[in-house]
Amino acid sequence: MKRIALSAEQIQDRVAQLGDEITRAYPDGELLVLGLLKGSFIFLSDLVRCVRRPLHVDFLVASSYGNETQSSGFVHLVYDPETELAGKHILLVEDIVDSGRTLSRVIEVLQQRNPRSLEICALLDKHVATHLTYPPKFVGFDAPNEFLVGYGLDHAESFRHLPYIASLQ
Ligand code: IMP
Ligand code: MG
Repeated sequence: MKRIALSAEQIQDRVAQLGDEITRAYPDGELLVLGLLKGSFIFLSDLVRCVRRPLHVDFLVASSYGNETQSSGFVHLVYDPETELAGKHILLVEDIVDSGRTLSRVIEVLQQRNPRSLEICALLDKHVATHLTYPPKFVGFDAPNEFLVGYGLDHAESFRHLPYIASLQ
């Protein structure tokens, strides 16, 4: 590990602010918070506890097949929420936006189900993607262009449990 990029305290403070922003952004209607697994699991669980309005929680598992299919943009939903999306506010929660490729494909799939609104909340944004058709409405932190682990983010499935975010050597 190289250095701690974000301490547990910094993360908790910002997550509480995001919870306030989200509470204010949805004055009415049904809100479904959809976590993209696995990376969002810790962020989502802290975040929903800072939102002070009714909501439901579900998860999505998306997978891309290899580099060729990935560049052609094919994303398969391995786990698809059974909840009806039509007419609901959908808040898609992601750990980190890098190229934004995964996210933009998942958005396309969800958009076809006629939600009332569809927005993204990302804990971290690397700002690598400059052409995002669907930029995240809620962002926790601008991320350095380093490989980050902890607070849900992994390297080969390790480090997800760390309460802080660190950059790897
Ligand atoms: P994208 O489709 O290129 O935006 O990739 C986003 C996904 O790649 C995230 O959901 C993460 O799972 C993973 N990812 C991107 N950057 C990092 C990082 O710095 N650390 C850990 N995982 C990352
Ligand atoms: Mg991931």
